[in-house]
Amino acid sequence: MRILLLFIFGFSLTLAFDNGLGKKPQMGWNSWNKFACNINETVILQTAEKMKELGLLEYGYEYIVMDDCYALKERDPISHKMVEDAAKFPNGIRSLSRRIHELGFKFGMYSSAGKYTCAGYPGSLHYEKIDAETFVNDWEIDYLKYDNCFNEGNSGTPQISYQRYEAMSKALLQTGRPVFYSLCQWGEDQVWDWGSTVANSWRITGDIYDSFDRYDDRCPCQTYDCRAVQGGMCSMTNILEKAVPLGQKAGPFSGWNDLDSLEVGNGGMSTDEYKAHFTLWAILKSPLVLGNDVTDMSKEDFNIVTNKAIIAINQDDSNPAYRVWKKPVSGGHLHLFTNILKDGTFAVTLFNSGNKVNNTVLNFEDIFLTDRVNAAKSFEFTELWTNETTLVSKELSTSIDAHSVKIWWLNCPKDICNKTTSVMHDEL
Ligand SMILES: *[C@@H]1O[C@H](CO)[C@@H](O)[C@H](O)[C@H]1NC(C)=O
Ligand SMILES: *[C@@H]1O[C@H](CO)[C@@H](O)[C@H](O)[C@H]1NC(C)=O
Ligand SMILES: *[C@@H]1O[C@H](CO)[C@@H](O)[C@H](O)[C@H]1NC(C)=O
Ligand SMILES: *[C@@H]1O[C@H](CO)[C@@H](O)[C@H](O)[C@H]1NC(C)=O
Repeated sequence: MRILLLFIFGFSLTLAFDNGLGKKPQMGWNSWNKFACNINETVILQTAEKMKELGLLEYGYEYIVMDDCYALKERDPISHKMVEDAAKFPNGIRSLSRRIHELGFKFGMYSSAGKYTCAGYPGSLHYEKIDAETFVNDWEIDYLKYDNCFNEGNSGTPQISYQRYEAMSKALLQTGRPVFYSLCQWGEDQVWDWGSTVANSWRITGDIYDSFDRYDDRCPCQTYDCRAVQGGMCSMTNILEKAVPLGQKAGPFSGWNDLDSLEVGNGGMSTDEYKAHFTLWAILKSPLVLGNDVTDMSKEDFNIVTNKAIIAINQDDSNPAYRVWKKPVSGGHLHLFTNILKDGTFAVTLFNSGNKVNNTVLNFEDIFLTDRVNAAKSFEFTELWTNETTLVSKELSTSIDAHSVKIWWLNCPKDICNKTTSVMHDEL
């Protein structure tokens, strides 16, 4: 039957990519946001050791991902393999990888589907097989972040981009080792429409900038010039707006929209803003990849990224949140999101991107879809940043500070909570 179908649909039948990974958004740490090119053995190893000591592994942060700048600028002239920079890695990347594995983590690396990486080191375009083998056989990686710099004009249509990313996908599969494959293609060429057929996650925008809402006309980038510029361009709320309508493209059976690594701990936002950033990334099922210096992390920041109940929503076997509405307030908007969880309960998030406190009343009609409204008189709401639990009837009166979020888990009877079969999404 399957053969027959393949025959009938021919090339248009795309089989879903399955390397056994990516059933949940990945969690871990990536060196780029904080260290950029200033990495070496000490930085990566001390991070892994500190994450172990802090118990971050137990919270789910399992991938230690070393980003750009680990190689020499030239490939080996005979084998054409990438060569590790021995000054940065005196004991070698393989030894670093083994040490990370001994600590109980998984090890990730980086390359670009271009002639060079973004920082000008050798890229893997046309070297996919040889590089996949080096990554897996020499450096024993479990994860590859695959960038888009210096792609030599091999972009502009979904098909052209797809081919570049598919080549590495196949090369990784051929090594026989399961490698989490994370596309960093900046949301170009509708990657959300084809990412799930070659990879486990896909970036949907340019790099994050550690700001709540700084305006930058390079996000989205419309010209080749701004693509070549290093560094982040997209503020947290800018990425949020791009992510909301794309929620419908992600899920346990396809893969994940990557909203980029977290900025929590890097200093560009207030504690309330970082709580909002973390909550929004979690409910939209973005990978939760720390991007700070974990060896020098405040208690507040640690508490943000280790909120177990919010992590559980991110890791729940269900789809990204959908936005019920967005209403203008002074300096921004009030946003209401709902997550329908696997067990039939749900989470409700209210986010105030405006600059003034908002007192608001949420009607149950806003929260539940219509057929649930009369089904029960009151529900227990637990706010997940304060743990306050209240029994609420018909409507919830609340107050949300400027640039802040509240998120409630609703403990409603499962037969009542689980009636929705379709949800509304923002238009793409
Ligand atoms: C490793 O990198 C860190 C951060 O850039 C730097 O402070 C340190 O001196 C470097 N260590 C070595 C051995 O190069
Ligand atoms: C909720 O509904 C979904 C979809 O119909 C179903 O897969 C799931 O098992 C239900 N959960 C409960 C607790 O009834
Ligand atoms: C609070 O938000 C609502 C939108 O839900 C708006 O109508 C109202 O004016 C806002 N109140 C204040 C004090 O900003
Ligand atoms: C909320 O409850 C959880 C689980 O009991 C606990 O780990 C956490 O520290 C509590 N948070 C606050 C802010 O009280």
